[in-house]
Amino acid sequence: MRQFDFIVIGTGIAGLSVAIKAAAHGSVAILTKRLNADSNTNWAQGGVACVTANDDTIDRHVADTLDAGAGLCREDVVRAIVAEGPERIAELIDIGVKFDQVEVDGRLEFDLGREGGHSRRRVLHSADHTGREISVKLLAAAVATPGIEFFENHYVIDLITTAKLGFVTEDRAIGLYALNQTNGEVETFRSDRIALCTGGCGRVYQYTTNPEVATGDGVAMAWRAGATVANMEFIQFHPTCLYHPKKKSFLITEALRGEGARLIDREGREFVNDIDPRGALAPRDIVARAIDNQIKRTGHPCVYLDVSHKDRAYLEERFPTVYHACMEVGIDPASEPIPVVPAAHYQCGGVRTDINGASSLRGLYAVGEVACTGLHGANRLASNSLLEGAVIAHRAVEHMRLKFPVNGRPPTEFPLPPWQSGDAQDVDELVVIYHNWDEIRRLMWDYVSIVRTRKRLLRAAARLHNLKREVHEFYWNFKVTTEMLELRNLVQTAALIVECASLRHESRGLHYTRDYPLPDHEHGPADTLVRRY
Ligand code: SIN
Repeated sequence: MRQFDFIVIGTGIAGLSVAIKAAAHGSVAILTKRLNADSNTNWAQGGVACVTANDDTIDRHVADTLDAGAGLCREDVVRAIVAEGPERIAELIDIGVKFDQVEVDGRLEFDLGREGGHSRRRVLHSADHTGREISVKLLAAAVATPGIEFFENHYVIDLITTAKLGFVTEDRAIGLYALNQTNGEVETFRSDRIALCTGGCGRVYQYTTNPEVATGDGVAMAWRAGATVANMEFIQFHPTCLYHPKKKSFLITEALRGEGARLIDREGREFVNDIDPRGALAPRDIVARAIDNQIKRTGHPCVYLDVSHKDRAYLEERFPTVYHACMEVGIDPASEPIPVVPAAHYQCGGVRTDINGASSLRGLYAVGEVACTGLHGANRLASNSLLEGAVIAHRAVEHMRLKFPVNGRPPTEFPLPPWQSGDAQDVDELVVIYHNWDEIRRLMWDYVSIVRTRKRLLRAAARLHNLKREVHEFYWNFKVTTEMLELRNLVQTAALIVECASLRHESRGLHYTRDYPLPDHEHGPADTLVRRY
């Protein structure tokens, strides 16, 4: 058994920031199910929203965030994250992160991008590969920090809690079991301070901008451990994912629309203007719904993003990731519109936490996309997520070290039993896992995506109920494998999305249902909370 003062699961901006800061107070293990560089953060194109410009204020950023969040943001959380953002950005710059700058009147200023829902230019970026820039620099800093041990290819199966072990005491997280995918062994890790930084769940849907690792692991394992989960119905669909058979999950950054790219239909009409005066720069829920409606109404499989008003040199320099990806599949953005469709992009709900990332389970923290802090409400404002990851990581470490001081003693007095495989067999039929995986992703896309109905949610719930039973049997009868564990988390996360969506009898932000097409003003906005016990 391995023992650490802090355990961090995930290597995106949240995980690496927690690990680096925690290492000043004790030993740190950082586990990731693939390689250190495989995270959602690494894929982020747009940037980090942060107040740095003279014409911008904390109040404006707060107001834009609250407006996008459609009444469900927690204003104290929004204000804290926005106000503490500049300090965390300065720390990123200190470790070497380079945000693009421009010369204005002989002085260098940040080259600020603009995205939907922002009333000002305030998005710091490194061309269109901001996430990669941050990941690379944070990873280098973490590797150079003494006291952090990395465990790549370690897939956390489940958290260990005092309640699960049958101790009669306040329930708390005291460790975890992880599958070492290199040798197939299940290892036990022990700690009193565990930070879930596992990202989101885009892979629950057939079409997504997320990498393969985004299978809802954190939400599923926290929920199984008894932590409260909230607002999972608010899945953000990014309006512009490349529509091309060879590049299915490729994001076309919203920053292009910030630079004047036009969102048009086959006839060249800017159809979003019919719905919202902000047009293609309205918040994402509005734009994605407008595209979904356009596609369903016309029967044409996609809409288009036209950025041909910008010349080739500009596109290559400012948007190299998008430019080269399009050219690779034979689309020249400098001269022709890019075909795009909406795709699942961001989980706005998650493990319910307070303003310091503390979940309802003692000792368990959730930071980044896996968490529901109250920043995003019913719809995340573009580029607010990297900011949240950096700010809450800092707060979580401060909270952990004050609430659970590291004093050099063994982390917990409770004995942890090793993993028992019993007489489990090797998995004999991988085809069953792949079939179930496909079925979940298709049914979530067809029944639980941009436009929902009560009937579709009921259908999804019934199918997921059966799938959960099958997966459960599989889990208990066979030795654990990566595929099986991902499927188990995927089906659990999908079920939580459907459960939350079914509990919300109104349309608000990202949750739109034909049965209740308006917000419920009578009862007012409220979070959807799901508890295991
Ligand atoms: C984008 O670049 O369009 C995505 C940014 C975000 O989701 O915050």
